[in-house]
Amino acid sequence: MEPQRDKTTGAKRDRLSSRDLAAIARGHLAGMIILEKDPSHFLTTKAMSRSLRVSSKNIEKVKFALKRNNYPSQNAFASEVGLSRATVTSFLNGRPVDFLNFTEICEKLGLNWQEIAHQDFEEQNDPAPPEAVKSQNWNGAPDASIFYGREKEIAELKEWILTDNCRLVAVLGMSGIGKTALSVKLAKKIQPEFTCLIWRSLRNPPSVADLLADLLQTLSPQSGQQPSDSTDENISRLLQYFQDHRCLVVLDNWQSILKSGDFAGHYREEYRDYGELLRRVAEESHQSCLVLTSSEKPREIAFLEGETLPVRSLVVGDLGEEARKILQAKGLSGEEEWGRLIFLYRGNPLALKIIATTIKDLFAGDVGQFFKHSLALDVGNIRGIVEQQFLRLSPLERDMMYWLAIEEQPLSLKDLRGLFSGYKFSQVVNTLESLDLRSLVEKAEEEVGSKFTLQPAVMQYVTNHLVEKICQEIASFSKNQQFKLLGNYPLQKPQNSDGQTGQPRRIFVWIKNQLYTEGNFSNNSSVLENLEEIKASLQGKPAIEVGYAGENVEILLKALNAE
Ligand SMILES: Nc1ncnc2c1ncn2[C@@H]1O[C@H](COP(=O)(O)OP(=O)(O)OP(=O)(O)O)[C@@H](O)[C@H]1O
Ligand SMILES: [Mg+2]
Repeated sequence: MEPQRDKTTGAKRDRLSSRDLAAIARGHLAGMIILEKDPSHFLTTKAMSRSLRVSSKNIEKVKFALKRNNYPSQNAFASEVGLSRATVTSFLNGRPVDFLNFTEICEKLGLNWQEIAHQDFEEQNDPAPPEAVKSQNWNGAPDASIFYGREKEIAELKEWILTDNCRLVAVLGMSGIGKTALSVKLAKKIQPEFTCLIWRSLRNPPSVADLLADLLQTLSPQSGQQPSDSTDENISRLLQYFQDHRCLVVLDNWQSILKSGDFAGHYREEYRDYGELLRRVAEESHQSCLVLTSSEKPREIAFLEGETLPVRSLVVGDLGEEARKILQAKGLSGEEEWGRLIFLYRGNPLALKIIATTIKDLFAGDVGQFFKHSLALDVGNIRGIVEQQFLRLSPLERDMMYWLAIEEQPLSLKDLRGLFSGYKFSQVVNTLESLDLRSLVEKAEEEVGSKFTLQPAVMQYVTNHLVEKICQEIASFSKNQQFKLLGNYPLQKPQNSDGQTGQPRRIFVWIKNQLYTEGNFSNNSSVLENLEEIKASLQGKPAIEVGYAGENVEILLKALNAE
């Protein structure tokens, strides 16, 4: 009997027509075709009437068989066996495949189909349910119907989840860059491949016990089983469900359960068990996928991810040219300046939406006018976007952010080591790495190696923050009071090699202006009085305690007296 070809792919589908198969299922042709190979024809006949899938415990085995048989790729194997790539992918990932295709693939790979097939074919005589979502629950997911670009990111995530069968995928990136929107868009696109789908936000995070109870109840309401008191047991139940059914679970805002004031990726005490959930989802065998979004990379992901492991992460970056559509939808004009605006905000959709609203309100939508007033980085609620992340930083991370803002130019690891000479080199590296996990530093590849800096909106925020803090220290100064930031950072650049006094930094100008204008002092003389008092308080103190305070006060006094 000649193989039939799939109309769309041209690949060989079944050796038998559906009429033949129906006849076999009724037992009429079984003796003719199957019994020669398989004496347990009753079982085989039952199995033939439906599709089969590889049981989850055998998925690794079939993948290994592909390698053992020296097929360089799934494509190569698909063309060798004369089936479509989609069929081969489904087979390798434990999704249902027509009986005859299933047995043919097994034969080619030297596998015994009865050993590796999921055993439920013995219990059911009904055809396999269609591979469509049986249950879905989108509680709290935002509408992502207006969504531009990101084709590359979606294609990559699809490949990881559907082809590589990743069990854990993290979508990372800074606040407002579009992680949530992307997760919704992705889930909508791939949902037909899953039998159940759940989308949840952790913005107001439930305890892990409540989350597990919610997931188990939503996935299997008919079970009527009460959640166990043991988190371990509930995770095991969830993983059993993940093994038996192909589920997609999206958990948005993972950073809400992570600690503030510590290096990135550590859990708040009460949410520690979430780490265990991630670890087991990543390491245990099942056919489902957990997608999380976060502005910080959880430590488990950093440890477990790898190109050949079923754990991956994608950092969502600049929306690029597609961001023009956001400006267009907002009805902005001055198109020749749009590229500049997008670059300034690094294609962050939320920042662009906010700034576009401001431009609309204050400059009748003309981006050119907006730039003429050089307000670009200082308006709107953009600071809120960065602030959310900045306030979560550990003291050492803040310190590094301040230095990156003060220096303005990208700094190498060697530069940072010099600035943090009081710390172990490993601490400097860990701090930089932690900022990177939060997508807060930009890496610039230069001939001499990597350098690190802040993107403009972040630099603006951090500089403003530092200026405000230093002005507050001066404003609230009273005798015997310790100040910190005024002594920690130099307001002028170091002397050059000729011994000439360094230039004032940008931050110096901002502090001087703010002392006058932002109402920290009722009049100029009180500024001077406070600075003089600080100067006097420094007399006789050890240099280590004074830090940069002496020279900072000196240049501020000089500049203010001259005005
Ligand atoms: N590709 C896109 N096309 C159009 N709008 C987008 C796109 N991506 C994001 N947005 C919009 O930008 C805003 C911010 O996106 P989103 O909430 O997904 O960011 P986020 O990275 O999840 O932020 P956070 O870290 O604060 O949770 C939303 O209003 C969203 O609709
Ligand atoms: Mg989000």
